Amino acid sequence: MRLHWQGPTLVVRTPAKLNLFLDVLGKRPDGYHELETLMVSIGLYDTLRFQTNESGRLELSLDAASPGITPAMRELLPLDERNLILKAAQLLRDYTGCAQGAFIQLSKSIPLQAGLGGGSSDAAAALVGLNHLWKLKLSSSELHSLAARLGSDVNFFLDSVPLALCRGRGEQVAAEPLTRPLHFVVVKPPGGLSTRDVFQSLHPQRLSCGSDAIRKAMQTGHPALIGAQLHNSLEVPAGVLSEEVASVLAALRSVSSVGRMMTGSGSSCFALCAHRGQAVRAAHVLRASCRGQVFVVQTAT
Ligand code: C5P
Repeated sequence: MRLHWQGPTLVVRTPAKLNLFLDVLGKRPDGYHELETLMVSIGLYDTLRFQTNESGRLELSLDAASPGITPAMRELLPLDERNLILKAAQLLRDYTGCAQGAFIQLSKSIPLQAGLGGGSSDAAAALVGLNHLWKLKLSSSELHSLAARLGSDVNFFLDSVPLALCRGRGEQVAAEPLTRPLHFVVVKPPGGLSTRDVFQSLHPQRLSCGSDAIRKAMQTGHPALIGAQLHNSLEVPAGVLSEEVASVLAALRSVSSVGRMMTGSGSSCFALCAHRGQAVRAAHVLRASCRGQVFVVQTAT
């Protein structure tokens, strides 16, 4: 996440993520699932612009030129209090007693219902941005406790770590070293998936495979070793809900021998590539053969 001022406007650029490994360890008494997941930030960004609003209201608008938003997606993006950005703003005000308002403009490039963490990343950007704009001086641990109330992935985006192992619901974040940049091609099929629906379709399966092998592979930085350890427990239930997931994975198999996987609860899938040139070539083939959006990205630092 990067913050800078443009005159009176605070600009925050916040990334998407991929899950290189996601293991569901079991269902918890609170209805959530216990997870172990390795998340990496990627160079696909939403931008939020914040200005103080003397009226004291919180007002969210969408930049009409948002490249990630198709007309069908627009309906999935409410700009009222259901939006996680405004939930984050209100939570900050409730927690601190601050009565200040804000104009917030969202420029969206990260697709919705995609498993790329866009909504969570925006919520984290709102916490960090408004903490700055309103000079609230909340500590990192206070922001983390608010983040966990907004969603399971919000904590990952707060500290701008390139790579982290996340546990609990996903909100317990431990940074991991990223030894070298990795290159991916990501495909978001036209249809999205609801995280809740995918978790509800999950049937308790085999024992956990553990993250040791992929963390060791990450230390080598070698794409082929990492690719062999990609895993996502949600890929099967997501595939039951969406035929597009299986067809995107098949298309990815034809363009990368290194490894491919669905990210998060889908519906986006990615192929890990040996280098950027391979990702660019793969994207060229996929744009001709797949419906949906195709992105060439590398890990964000
Ligand atoms: O935490 P978040 O709001 O992103 O989660 C959306 C939904 O996904 C939850 O309501 C829950 O149904 C499911 N979920 C889960 N276990 C997790 C994270 C999410 O069951 N660890």
